Amino acid sequence: MASPPPARTPARLVVLVSGSGTNLQALLDAIDENPAAYGARVVAVGADRNGIAGLERAERAGLPTFVCRVKDFGSREEWDAALAEATAAYEPDLVVSAGFMKIVGKEFLARFGGRCVNTHPALLPSFPGAHGVRDALAYGARVTGCTVHFVDDGVDTGPIIAQGVVEVREQDYEDHGVALHERIKEVERRLLVDVVGRLARNGYRIEGRKVVIQ
Ligand code: GRF
Repeated sequence: MASPPPARTPARLVVLVSGSGTNLQALLDAIDENPAAYGARVVAVGADRNGIAGLERAERAGLPTFVCRVKDFGSREEWDAALAEATAAYEPDLVVSAGFMKIVGKEFLARFGGRCVNTHPALLPSFPGAHGVRDALAYGARVTGCTVHFVDDGVDTGPIIAQGVVEVREQDYEDHGVALHERIKEVERRLLVDVVGRLARNGYRIEGRKVVIQ
């Protein structure tokens, strides 16, 4: 996987969302707090659906948004190419998939492989896929957490950048992981903000499965 360090300061971020966008908000807040020190800025927010809080957060922040819905395209490949094109229009140094619930395809990876970061609510390689929190609970894991990793052509299989650990509590079985997911997201937001800032400020290389932040 290629690993071009972000060339510009501040690095340009396109953030992709599908839901409530609290990870996006955490990035926006960290940047707002000290734009010069953070080393990156969000230049656009993309989504795979309309009417989500993530897009509202972007609009409140005065950011351009775009939506690519799979059902508006003849095939998954066409959707992927359109998403890649819409993202590329904002010339990002890094793409941040922050709760974006779609697997990107060949065209997207051809353009953004090695520059696309995803956050996942489990300790990969355990419990990949759309139900990481629920699956960890169902398996009986005593600790779980979150993983920030580069996106490759698998489902949550790319090189790991950082992980955070969260303990499972007895009560977590009672609400099917709702409170557990909230505790994971608290850790996840801090981790994502830290990782994206360090990648942007310091540059990085990807050596096989190992990510080295300079
Ligand atoms: C995060 O836990 C992310 O890992 C998962 O969905 C959640 C998104 O949360 N895929 P938000 O939309 O950033 O609030």
